[in-house]
Amino acid sequence: MNFKGNHILSVNQFDREAIERVFNVAHQMLPYAKRRKRTTVLEGAILGNLFFEPSTRTRVSFGTAFNLLGGEVRETTGLSNSALAKGESLYDTARVLSGYSDIIAMRHPDSGSVAEFAEGSRVPVINGGDGANEHPTQALLDLYTIQKELQDHGSSIDGMHIAMIGDLKYGRTVHSLSKLLCLFKNVRFTLISPKELNMPASIIAAIENAGHQYTITDQFEGSVDADICYQTRIQEERFPSQHEANQYRGKFRLNQQIYTKHFQSKTVIMHPLPRDSRAEANELDNDLNLNPNLAIFRQTDNGVLVRMALFALTLGVEDIVAQYDRDIHWHVNI
Ligand code: CP
Repeated sequence: MNFKGNHILSVNQFDREAIERVFNVAHQMLPYAKRRKRTTVLEGAILGNLFFEPSTRTRVSFGTAFNLLGGEVRETTGLSNSALAKGESLYDTARVLSGYSDIIAMRHPDSGSVAEFAEGSRVPVINGGDGANEHPTQALLDLYTIQKELQDHGSSIDGMHIAMIGDLKYGRTVHSLSKLLCLFKNVRFTLISPKELNMPASIIAAIENAGHQYTITDQFEGSVDADICYQTRIQEERFPSQHEANQYRGKFRLNQQIYTKHFQSKTVIMHPLPRDSRAEANELDNDLNLNPNLAIFRQTDNGVLVRMALFALTLGVEDIVAQYDRDIHWHVNI
């Protein structure tokens, strides 16, 4: 895979070699993310950070990652605040905004919209989530986290068992992560969701074609000897109505008691976040916050590393980052 100057729109673009490349560069970004030193390798470069759908961590971590490499960020947030609301096409928006930026990160509520935008862009575009379709940078940071967590347990992605729980129909993060896992060997999937929110047939077909084992169920049953428990939120914004989304809220809660009953004492708990902490949902209870296997905030920290790596690779500076090192002058407590 050639990163330099190219769009990152789908996990389908990646093979294992490309993933390893991203992870190696991400690992080298740790001292910058931890503020042990800084770099100005992207001084003068501008990221267009275009979020036409709500986001906290993806938007801010893209911006943070670009700033940590020395670049500047220009943002637009919300469809109603953009000229798309006046009928402007994605193509025209892309032609215009790519004239103001060296690279663009974008999120949009419609499947396929980021790829459509990229056709009009004169600079590389990174998909920050397009509807229920894909969230490739989340999948990469999830996989990076899984690799690190399993290494700490003396195991690896090949041969692991992952339980994916909740809204597997509309949850784009589980779609992208499953596709990446199809590049690995002997992965076992336990897919736990209400029947109506099952994993799409195309993803199941990919899992089958990769030769992986999978189980589909609509309830927690007995012991799930998973290495990874990947919980998700009911994606209420993608349901035809709020009423329909409400039927599934709170169906698969995870708290310390349920975790102890169904999972191993070493099962790593992940969630792409945001977790819905409202009482009627509460899919990942606060009583797990001090559980050392809760990796959700390690995921968000890793997101900065992975996004720094993707910017460095796409702009072709991955090998010269350290040439632009600077000292840190302020108190650091990260
Ligand atoms: N995981 C994720 O995409 O979070 P945000 O919606 O806050 O960006």
